[in-house]
Amino acid sequence: MAISRAYISFLSTFFILFLLRNNGGVGATTLGYYSESCPNVEEIVKSSVEFFVSNDNSLAPALLRLHFHDCFVHGCDGSVLLEGSSSEMSAPANTGLRGFQVIMDAKAGVEARCPGVVSCADILALAARDAVVLTKGPSWEVALGRLDGLKSSASDTNDMPSPFDSISLLATKFAAKGLSLEDLVALSGAHTIGQADCHFFSYRLYNYGTTGASDPSLNSSSLNELKAICPSLSSNNRAALDKGSRQTWDNAYYKNIGAGNALLESDSKLGSDGSTGGLVSRFAGSLSEFDSTFVRSMVKLGNVGVKTKAGGGGEIRRMCQVTNF
Ligand code: HEM
Ligand SMILES: *[C@@H]1O[C@H](CO)[C@@H](O)[C@H](O)[C@H]1NC(C)=O
Repeated sequence: MAISRAYISFLSTFFILFLLRNNGGVGATTLGYYSESCPNVEEIVKSSVEFFVSNDNSLAPALLRLHFHDCFVHGCDGSVLLEGSSSEMSAPANTGLRGFQVIMDAKAGVEARCPGVVSCADILALAARDAVVLTKGPSWEVALGRLDGLKSSASDTNDMPSPFDSISLLATKFAAKGLSLEDLVALSGAHTIGQADCHFFSYRLYNYGTTGASDPSLNSSSLNELKAICPSLSSNNRAALDKGSRQTWDNAYYKNIGAGNALLESDSKLGSDGSTGGLVSRFAGSLSEFDSTFVRSMVKLGNVGVKTKAGGGGEIRRMCQVTNF
């Protein structure tokens, strides 16, 4: 009798710990989360993304990058969308982020059908997937149920990955979000689409290691092309992250790394670093392996630091650019 009572209290302690763990405010998203409350959400978001990308296809890469930058600061909680003189979007790490109007448009469409139900963080996750599909990339199911965060501060972006980081620092930054070396290499494959501003790579052309010379690992054909795009160290033009096919999803990004044609130094180092070079070769050799790993890694990225209904610290924002009041 005494033993079984002790046993029951032992079990209930674990049950309470289990409940606490699952109500801590950070938890998993689920498939079909809005199937009752907003059944058309995916269609509505997709039609906004399609409309804007058909007018300006540079918005497809922009939307993918926006979701990544959202997830790396306070988790995927729409904090990157909050406006303010010192919010995340004003930080140097977020220079050049675009596509905000697509998210606002999708949010307006969703609010018209199911007001107060769908988070901005979920819209970002859906839009990133839809953008990849429009570039002829792979598709995947996006689990939903993220809440929008309540704060956004430029200083919280200090740990964002930078193209000037070493691979070991990038690996540390990814590991801090629960992302592996494989995730690092596969997610960097997002650079199969889009462009970068000269200021992220012009030092490789003119002042590498402050020598006044160019980066010796850069292919001479790229060197000459890039010097034409960025005539000086301070030029502000844009060049393709994936030489030759910046508008189309493929695995040429990994082949370009192997041929010395990666634009960013961090992308180039993924090929030469012992911890990541093998993965770069593997993805260069197989588009389907890149695609399937990318999709798996995007699902992980989309679950970083997610706030869910169960706990505090989040809300369904009525407008993506401001918290509710
Ligand atoms: C490994 C760490 C990463 C670094 C250091 C990095 C760095 C950069 C930089 C410097 C740019 C150029 C931005 C501009 O000039 O507008 C860029 C663009 C881009 N990044 Fe990354 N990135 C990383 C990882 C990722 C990840 C994980 C994703 C998404 C899954 C991503 C998606 C993109 C896309 C799509 C663009 C093109 C944006 C556009 O054309 O507007 N990046 N990245
Ligand atoms: C330099 O890039 C070109 C493609 O632009 C490629 O054909 C060539 O093999 C590359 N050179 C080296 C040394 O990898």
